[in-house]
Amino acid sequence: MKKYKLAIVGATGLVGRTVLKVLEERNLPVSEYVLLASKKSAGKTTHFMGKDYVVQELNEHSFDEGFDFAIFSAGGDTSKKYSPIAASKGCIVVDNSSAFRMDPNVPLVVPEVNPEEIKNHHGIIANPNCSTIQAVVALKPLDNKYKIKRIVYSTYQAVSGAGRNGVLDLENGAKNYLENTDTPMQKFPYPIFSNCLPHIDTFLDNGYTKEEEKMINETRKILKRPELKITATTVRVPVFNSHSESINVEFENDFDMKELIDTLKTFPNLIVQDNTKEQLYPLATNASGKDEVFVGRIRRDESVPFGVNLWVVADNIRKGAATNAVQIVEELCDYKLL
Ligand code: A2P
Repeated sequence: MKKYKLAIVGATGLVGRTVLKVLEERNLPVSEYVLLASKKSAGKTTHFMGKDYVVQELNEHSFDEGFDFAIFSAGGDTSKKYSPIAASKGCIVVDNSSAFRMDPNVPLVVPEVNPEEIKNHHGIIANPNCSTIQAVVALKPLDNKYKIKRIVYSTYQAVSGAGRNGVLDLENGAKNYLENTDTPMQKFPYPIFSNCLPHIDTFLDNGYTKEEEKMINETRKILKRPELKITATTVRVPVFNSHSESINVEFENDFDMKELIDTLKTFPNLIVQDNTKEQLYPLATNASGKDEVFVGRIRRDESVPFGVNLWVVADNIRKGAATNAVQIVEELCDYKLL
């Protein structure tokens, strides 16, 4: 059986380290791994797959030696510069940044939702934004069955989505409050501890944030519904890990609630947790460390003819980034074997 060579770019970061963890848990047909990061980390040792790996500095020649695949989690600028170099040398890049997501030549893939897009790649495949991934896993089976007319997203996003400094801001904010210290914020414009910040990524001229625009555009691309009516408010909340989302959906067609719930239950990697009598609903703390998407609080929106409200939670670093990227590489291995 053929074995592949895989590069992990940004292997020392929050997402990159989780990519390594997910790779250790799964059995990909990979015989050689190379861990890449910035100059700062070059020479550092990471224990992975039972061995010590020395992290190498990413440069123009990193992909000279026959890589099959690379997972990039080192930010947009690094992806823009190095993904095309890797692709030009025959390496298929799965990119976690937003650099190429809306490029019409780049498939934007959630393997449960649109795996058929993978084979249309020209060397780069984009991993969607974390908030989009978990949303479309819950929405795809409903769009298939009842045709979505409009979506209203309201997100409650964890600080891990803002990288290492985001997590530090919440830890330091809690310390400042409890121990009366005065550590300044590094990532967020205001204290994240005790606040919900309706501000993720930069503001655009129309008053939306880039994060909101990403959710809208990426959902349309993944569901192949370019005209779909969508609005979004994305909020950073003082939660360490896992994003929660309130999703209001309006359909073109009527639905039976039991059938709708059964439709969600049968979709891969989507788990229904919905029993209000037993106070069962998805929670960030329960979703953390898992690869599935959790959905609950499923109820009819009585203000429109055919609408439903959902509460959708997933680990934003695993399913929202690392796991989704590794799943794409798994699918690529399968395609290559065909
Ligand atoms: P490093 O640790 O050497 O800075 P996070 O999002 O958690 O901050 O992680 C970002 C990841 O991207 C890290 O692994 C980081 O490496 C890597 N990275 C950042 N800039 C570069 C760059 N110019 N070249 C290669 N890797 C980079």
